[in-house]
Amino acid sequence: MMILDPPHQHHSPQEHDGEHKDEKHEEFGERIRQDFPILQARVKNKPLIYLDSAATSQKPRQVIEALKKYYEEYNANVHRGIYALSEKATMAYEHARFIIARFINAEQHEIIFTKGTTESLNLLAYSLSKQLKKGDNIVLTQMEHHSNLVPWQQLAKESKRDGKDIEVRFIKITGDGRLDMGHARQCIDDSTKIVSVTHMSNVLGTINPVQELASLAHEHGALLVVDAAQSVPHMKIDVKELGCDFLAFSGHKLFGPTGIGVLYGRKELLAKLPPFLYGGDMIHEVRFEDSTFADAPNKFEAGTPNMAGAIGLAKAVEYLQQIGMENITEYEQELTAYALHRLQEMEGITVYGPPDAAARGGVISFTIAGIHPHDVAQLLDRDGICVRGGHHCAMPLMGVLGIAGSVRASLSMYNTKEDIGLLIAAIHKAQKMFS
Ligand code: ALA
Repeated sequence: MMILDPPHQHHSPQEHDGEHKDEKHEEFGERIRQDFPILQARVKNKPLIYLDSAATSQKPRQVIEALKKYYEEYNANVHRGIYALSEKATMAYEHARFIIARFINAEQHEIIFTKGTTESLNLLAYSLSKQLKKGDNIVLTQMEHHSNLVPWQQLAKESKRDGKDIEVRFIKITGDGRLDMGHARQCIDDSTKIVSVTHMSNVLGTINPVQELASLAHEHGALLVVDAAQSVPHMKIDVKELGCDFLAFSGHKLFGPTGIGVLYGRKELLAKLPPFLYGGDMIHEVRFEDSTFADAPNKFEAGTPNMAGAIGLAKAVEYLQQIGMENITEYEQELTAYALHRLQEMEGITVYGPPDAAARGGVISFTIAGIHPHDVAQLLDRDGICVRGGHHCAMPLMGVLGIAGSVRASLSMYNTKEDIGLLIAAIHKAQKMFS
């Protein structure tokens, strides 16, 4: 069964009467959304209102076309073939690395292609664990996604078996969903070897003070790892300015294809880090008895990489650069402030995370009194509105917030105030149904 109806012009004015338009900003969102074919579609004969970009972003036509072009015109394995097609694919793959490096102010050889944030963080946890010794600790926060919690937690569990006893500590959050920096200073000490934090919470929207955490970690000789999965699509990222040692993100949240992600690492650190996966394309020399490995980034890219994914992701980055990350941040901040305001003035709604749009991104979690988040998500779906309901892969954080789950509306540059108006109307409808 087709879930989406054929493309149709977005929101006809009759469908959304009563929504006041801010001309300049509506124009921005409207213009961007024209590049996203899926946003012209209708669901159950209603316009598609996509408010789940924190889970995955939609893809602009430019990225879809770059993937098609790759497969139609120059698909070949990279770093292997001594023929023109393979050379072209290799050049495009390495050029993609260059584009992405420049996007976050890194060097080309500091960019490792992975499957996504989860693999990037698992790679780090595995490889860095080799450098840890008895009594070391790792500091995380209470607002981590499972992908930046479980790998470190399991590393610590494993370390107990071989007598290293690595401890994992969690920096607490304040009542309004910010990091408690006083507690951060207590957690990070001279035995801390790794501090790994989310840049932007996928539940609370909180933007964490990465620069301050980097200074704190470095004062104690620890490394700072940043999970930038949620921040990279919405703000300018400069790894040097942030002062981080490693940074991970996913392509699919950055308007690129699925199955491609990035791990940035400072080159002197990558040089010392052992590989995570072994196989072809990551070696220098192999003998029956032993092997030597290539330099980074190849050392960390065993097997045939996701060539199309890297090329598609670089196209997404170029697309974003044309729009300008500053413009995106400015637009989304206004949209977030508007959404927060509309939700906060409603009866029976509790919104989590910082109340101030400047301290957060457009990931907005809330609960509705008397209605389970899954029921809300299902009811909104009837109106063509996509939100996520549940624990958002952050179960320990749900415990801290004292809830089993929340509804999450996550905004992107292609959303408009109209989308938020429709969300609010659908929530009112759900409340009426349950009253
Ligand atoms: N990490 C993604 C989310 O928060 C899947 O929804």
